[in-house]
Amino acid sequence: PSLKETFKDDFFIGTALNNAQIEERIPGAAVLVPQQFNAVTPENIMKAEVMHPEWNRYNFDLSDKLVAYAKKHNIVVNAHTLIWHSQLPQFVRRMKDADSVRLFFKEHINTIAGRYDGQVYSWDVVNEALNEDGTMRKSIFFEKLGDDFVVEAFRLAQKAAPTTKLYYNDYNIEQPKKRAGAIALIKKIQAAGVRIDGVGIQGHWHVKNIPLKDIEQSILDFSALGIDVMFTELDLSVLPNPRDIVGADLNQRAEYETKLNPYTKGLPDSVQLLLAKGYEDVFRLFLKHKNKISRVTFWGVDDGQSWLNGFPIRGRTNYPLLFDKEFKPKPAFYKVIELK
Ligand code: XIL
Repeated sequence: PSLKETFKDDFFIGTALNNAQIEERIPGAAVLVPQQFNAVTPENIMKAEVMHPEWNRYNFDLSDKLVAYAKKHNIVVNAHTLIWHSQLPQFVRRMKDADSVRLFFKEHINTIAGRYDGQVYSWDVVNEALNEDGTMRKSIFFEKLGDDFVVEAFRLAQKAAPTTKLYYNDYNIEQPKKRAGAIALIKKIQAAGVRIDGVGIQGHWHVKNIPLKDIEQSILDFSALGIDVMFTELDLSVLPNPRDIVGADLNQRAEYETKLNPYTKGLPDSVQLLLAKGYEDVFRLFLKHKNKISRVTFWGVDDGQSWLNGFPIRGRTNYPLLFDKEFKPKPAFYKVIELK
């Protein structure tokens, strides 16, 4: 069975792709991606540090490859991301004066959003602008350009990319305080007469702590703003948060190795079933609100390539996705398919 076929009348089913997957250097992924997904998000290659490494130097090679790959397989590209405080090039991180930041900001959006208008389906125009309490994150953009930078980013993107959908994307915005901040931000963009087409809830959750109630309320609240709601980076970690392990500051990692990285020899059946239940629960909710949800994107194709093997600490073995590292569907995959 195929995810994209199963949910074709409901929402796009996407995956993040890394560079090796875009270049089809991983045979298992090369088969799986076109079979299972009809949307792709570049995991890293359309971030500023890759696309815009120096003033006046852009790198379009990888993003052009992605666009060609997607076209070949009849997949839409959800480009990620124009303005984000993280994965910025050195030359921007070193900037001290507001004028330089403003110039970078304008040129970056104009050049990149302009070049890919008509070639990508959407842009995450701004990523992660909010703190957990709903206030604005003190990023370089906030510090130098003020809190209107989000509206300005959308204004520039709308001009440069008139036929591309424009989204705000963030994590934990299903949580009440941060959600309120996101709603205020979106209303501010709308009140300025600037176009915003949707909001992406990242969806990096822990399998034992999926905030179903908050997720449902968020779907309702965000769609009441008249915009698309998406789940853009879905994965369910099965590993403990290092902070929850007594005394485990990263220097003491060796001492706590087995607790931090418990499933190096494979996922026990009990956790496998928990993961299946977790995915069943979230997809049941997505289906209940399918008329409000336009896309569900997983943050990776298979467990072997998941970023969670390296975050928030390196070298762990996580199992957060629907396909294992041999590209075989896990029980969670079948649970999701069986909902239809
Ligand atoms: C992550 C990638 O998966 C990693 O490979 C990279 O090292 C760091 O960024 N929120 C986002 C994504 O919006 O861009 C992040 O992707 C994960 C968290």
